[in-house]
Amino acid sequence: MTVTDKEAYESRIDRVLISEEEIKQALKRCGEQISREYEGKPLLLVSVLKGAFVFLADLCREISIPCEIGFMAAQSYFEGTSSRGNVQITYDLAQDLSRYHVIIVEDIIDTGRTLAEIIKLINIRDPLSLKVVTLLDKPSRRVVPLEADISLFTIPDHFVIGYGLDCGEYYRNLPYIAEYKEKSL
Ligand code: IMP
Ligand code: MG
Repeated sequence: MTVTDKEAYESRIDRVLISEEEIKQALKRCGEQISREYEGKPLLLVSVLKGAFVFLADLCREISIPCEIGFMAAQSYFEGTSSRGNVQITYDLAQDLSRYHVIIVEDIIDTGRTLAEIIKLINIRDPLSLKVVTLLDKPSRRVVPLEADISLFTIPDHFVIGYGLDCGEYYRNLPYIAEYKEKSL
C-alpha cells in the first residue's frame, strides 16, 4: 500500500484510544518499577522489531539504572486456527543471554503465538531471568495462554494503530494509539 493522499490517510484514524499523556504517565510508572526491581543486576531489554521500537525508545529513557538494549526480528507463520506456531528469527541478538536478566519489550500481545515462540527461543539461551513487558494487551484474542509480567494498557478486540503499531507499515509515527477505521482508500 502506498498512501500519498493525506486526507485518505487521516480518514482511517478513528478515535484516539490512548493519548500521549496517558502513555507518558504509564511509561513513568513502568520505568520506575523496572529501575527498582533490577537495581544491581545486569539488565538487557529485548525488543522484537518493528512494532515495539517506539515503546522501547521511550521506556528505556524512563529507566534510571544501567541497561543494555537488543533487537530481534521474527517472521511468524501460523496456519488456520492451530496454536502450533512457527517463528523464524530473521535478525538475532548479539549478546550472550546467560549473563543477563532479560526483559522482552513488546508492543502488543494479541493471540500470544509470536511471543510464546520468542519466549521459548530466549529460554533455550538460559538467561538469568526472563520477564515480559507489553504496552498493550488484548486478552480476549488469546490463543496461547500467556500473561505479561507488566502490561501498561488492556484494550478490547479492535485493531489499533500508532505509537509503533502499523497497518500496512503506515501509522507507526502517530504519537498516540488510535482505533483503525476499516474502509477502502
Ligand atoms: P500475536 O500475539 O502472535 O497474535 O501477534 C502479535 C503481533 O501482531 C504484534 O506484535 C503486532 O505486530 C501484530 N498486531 C496484533 N494486533 C495488532 C493491532 O491491533 N494493531 C497492529 N498490530 C497488531
Ligand atoms: Mg510485536
